[in-house]
Amino acid sequence: MEALAVYGGSPNISSHLHGGRLERNGSLSCAQKLSLRTQYLSSFHPSSLLSCSPLLNHVKIRTKKSKTHIFLPHLVASMEDVEETYIMVKPDGVQRGLVGEIISRFEKKGFLLKGLKLFQCPKELAEEHYKDLKAKSFFPKLINYITSGPVVCMAWEGVGVVASARKLIGATNPLQAEPGTIRGDLAVQTGRNVVHGSDSPENGMREIALWFKEGELCQWKQAQASWLRE
Ligand code: RTP
Ligand code: MG
Repeated sequence: MEALAVYGGSPNISSHLHGGRLERNGSLSCAQKLSLRTQYLSSFHPSSLLSCSPLLNHVKIRTKKSKTHIFLPHLVASMEDVEETYIMVKPDGVQRGLVGEIISRFEKKGFLLKGLKLFQCPKELAEEHYKDLKAKSFFPKLINYITSGPVVCMAWEGVGVVASARKLIGATNPLQAEPGTIRGDLAVQTGRNVVHGSDSPENGMREIALWFKEGELCQWKQAQASWLRE
């Protein structure tokens, strides 16, 4: 089926700081929004296009045989949602040589790695990323922590990947995190909890757009895909 998709559901993207591309008023230009939407949309394989995120308000499909018609994803409850999440090895995880260990937890689980890079985070980006915590007393300490050394940025894709990654990561306080989780196995303090994971599909999209530039995400299919999902 040849599909043409147009969607008007705006991802909750309030800014894009990479490469100094944030506009003065803190919002994205039309071209930037379109680019991010295209980037988000292109992450879906055509065969799963109709089952993608509920964030998409509507998807216009045009087939060779039929004329354009409106497709409402929320009406197709039986199809599964492919999500994306932003995972980051924090500076302590990098300094302690835990990068390979942390990546392997997500690889072994069976999620799809779409983006990966070592990156020194500027203060402005750290503040934007954690903007919901701005009023917290620990915010300045958190920004110092995240910018204290390189981080490893990752974009992972999969059905249910956002909630599953949070389970793999474990509770914010590593002493309360279950054994078997990353924080439960590898950390002892909230302020040094080695890894970040997006807390919702909306934030997964927002954070991936924040940390990755266009062209840094890879579209590919795992050779093991048919051994992971029937
Ligand atoms: P993250 O966003 O990094 O994945 O962590 P989270 O969802 O488990 O926890 P969140 O509430 O979003 O907090 C973000 C990070 O701030 C640091 N933190 N310090 N009381 C404190 O000193 C405190 N509370 C939170 C942690 O590094 C936490 O992961
Ligand atoms: Mg959080």
